[in-house]
Amino acid sequence: MKSIGMLQKLSEEMVARWSQIPHGEHVPCRQGMFMFAIKAIMQSSLGNFFLQDEEVLKFWESYNTSWSDMEQRFLKEDFPQPGSEREKIFNEAKKYMYDTIAAAIEVRRKRPTTEKRKMLIDVMIENNIPYDVMQCDVLMFIIGGFHTTANSLLWALTFISAHSDVQEKMYQEVKNVLGDTGKITPDNIGQLVYTRQVIDEALRIAKIAPYAARFDDENDVKLGDYVIPAGTPIIQAINVEYNDPARWPNPNEFDPDRFSPEKVSERHPYSFQPFGFAGKRKCPGYRFAYAEVTTALANILLSFQIQGVKGQEVKASCGLLGALDDEVWITLEKRSSGSVQPMK
Ligand code: HEM
Repeated sequence: MKSIGMLQKLSEEMVARWSQIPHGEHVPCRQGMFMFAIKAIMQSSLGNFFLQDEEVLKFWESYNTSWSDMEQRFLKEDFPQPGSEREKIFNEAKKYMYDTIAAAIEVRRKRPTTEKRKMLIDVMIENNIPYDVMQCDVLMFIIGGFHTTANSLLWALTFISAHSDVQEKMYQEVKNVLGDTGKITPDNIGQLVYTRQVIDEALRIAKIAPYAARFDDENDVKLGDYVIPAGTPIIQAINVEYNDPARWPNPNEFDPDRFSPEKVSERHPYSFQPFGFAGKRKCPGYRFAYAEVTTALANILLSFQIQGVKGQEVKASCGLLGALDDEVWITLEKRSSGSVQPMK
């Protein structure tokens, strides 16, 4: 997994930036996780692109504008009037994102022939994929890759900051597994068993991708005792499944022990599929997503004890994705050799 080195480096940069924040100051966790996730997916699919925070912020703002307009269209059937200010703002934001991808494609086209590492974009260029298809596919991949992982990280950190026992247990695990190097590697990442439980429990409650959908356009499908005629849309209601008390007692309670190896072995494997149906349309980024979220959480917890800001109300929204729409503020206490030190 070549990406782990890049994820470790980006996590270290994020921790270094947070270390500069004066003690007691409120830290915008949502912004931090989006910046991190945008850089991670951009650098893994486009190369050394998007290194400056200002560029990332501008891209994120354009994305927020487009996404909230699209949610309005899909969920409320509220479309902008042709020629309206809203349509103009939407089109400008969309154009900025497309232009960014176009600039990245040009950089990759001119890359030195000595560079061996190939990324998604290089394979598309080599196979002469039409330009507009390439732009759309890369943008879709990037958005699919950062909105989901940034929200997963944000949910996980929100829960961890409210559950000091879970945070301490994770910290101990990370410290023991990463040892003196303090770095995530392809060899040690799989040993972070409790951290994975925490991530899975955050994914369950958050319902990042609330549904997946299919239809077979040619054949009838037999599902249990039912025959589903060809052409019938089937929605896998992930958000309903993960709230079913028969499978998940007290479903709204955050409890990573639900994902202990023993508990997992008692459940049907299909009872938890946050990355979609099995088969070739299952999320292609699921390994990357776990690696990214694990690396960021391990680095944050190794350096800080985190707490939510008192009196803050964190509100979830369930639109096209399960998200926390407003900023989530946290405070940090720096850890040093296992003890917690106030930051200067
Ligand atoms: C926690 C993070 C993520 C979650 C919860 C998630 C969830 C999902 C789900 C539920 C689907 C639909 C699968 C289906 O229809 O059966 C999907 C599709 C997809 N995901 Fe993810 N995903 C995540 C991260 C990523 C990442 C990091 C990438 C890119 C690196 C990515 C790229 C995609 C793409 C391209 C598709 C469309 C696949 C297709 O239709 O063939 N996702 N994802």
